[in-house]
Amino acid sequence: MQTTGDLDRLRQAVTAWRSAGQAVALVPTMGALHAGHIALIEAAKRPGTRVVASIFVNPKQFGPAEDLGRYPRREASDARMLNAAGCDLLWAPSVETMYPMGFATNIAVAGVSDGFDGAARPGHFDGVATVVTKLFNQVRPDLAYFGEKDFQQLAVIRRLVADLDMPIEIVGVPTQRDDDGLALSSRNIYLDDDQRARAVALPRALGIAARSIGRGDLVEDALTEARATLIAAGFEIDYVALADAETLAEDPAPDRPRRLLAAARLGTTRLIDNVPIEQG
Ligand code: PAF
Repeated sequence: MQTTGDLDRLRQAVTAWRSAGQAVALVPTMGALHAGHIALIEAAKRPGTRVVASIFVNPKQFGPAEDLGRYPRREASDARMLNAAGCDLLWAPSVETMYPMGFATNIAVAGVSDGFDGAARPGHFDGVATVVTKLFNQVRPDLAYFGEKDFQQLAVIRRLVADLDMPIEIVGVPTQRDDDGLALSSRNIYLDDDQRARAVALPRALGIAARSIGRGDLVEDALTEARATLIAAGFEIDYVALADAETLAEDPAPDRPRRLLAAARLGTTRLIDNVPIEQG
């Protein structure tokens, strides 16, 4: 695996692959890799395709009171994991390369960015859309892979790519979970043993509510029960809501693809999760 933080070297590698008739897939990450990220690399590895992973802890998507300073950084072990997974190139730009002096552009994707995490974390999705646009322009991938765990992020990126006519196929990869169902996240390491044991209430409450809504029970009853379960487990809830899986509008019609979304805090750790509604 090649590793570079130099844009010219990245472009040389990508140009050489393209000249050889190969496709390029990008897996954008902020590092602190876990099995969820490796599942993205595995999904991206196809015959005739070269895989680029990026690691960049993007300051623009953290609010002033958020965990940018303590966000886990494990460059050496991340590189070993990517190499072992069969990644071809690690793109690891510095903050100065990504946002040189004078950088002044902001990409905002209205509507789909506004609710849920967008409301709880003002500016977060502008930061994501801006850095992902830069990563797409730097790497020029044919395909890009994102986890469904960050479901609103995936919806924002799909809208961005459609609106700006970017010739990139966006592939959503199902959430990877621990044996007890907790979604893998780089932030799970912040949980102490007691919080980790209680965290499982989040996927369980969402699973029960999603099955109940899928059977045709009243949405508000299912959401109320899920919220009560989370509060009993010690969570402070940001939101538990049903949304249209494409637009993320609330109160979606039952014949639309629907997603149950939640964000809640255990102590200072904010966890998010989501599940599809399967009819019947
Ligand atoms: O999901 C992430 O790790 C980040 O939001 C992303 C997509 C790499 C942009 O910084």
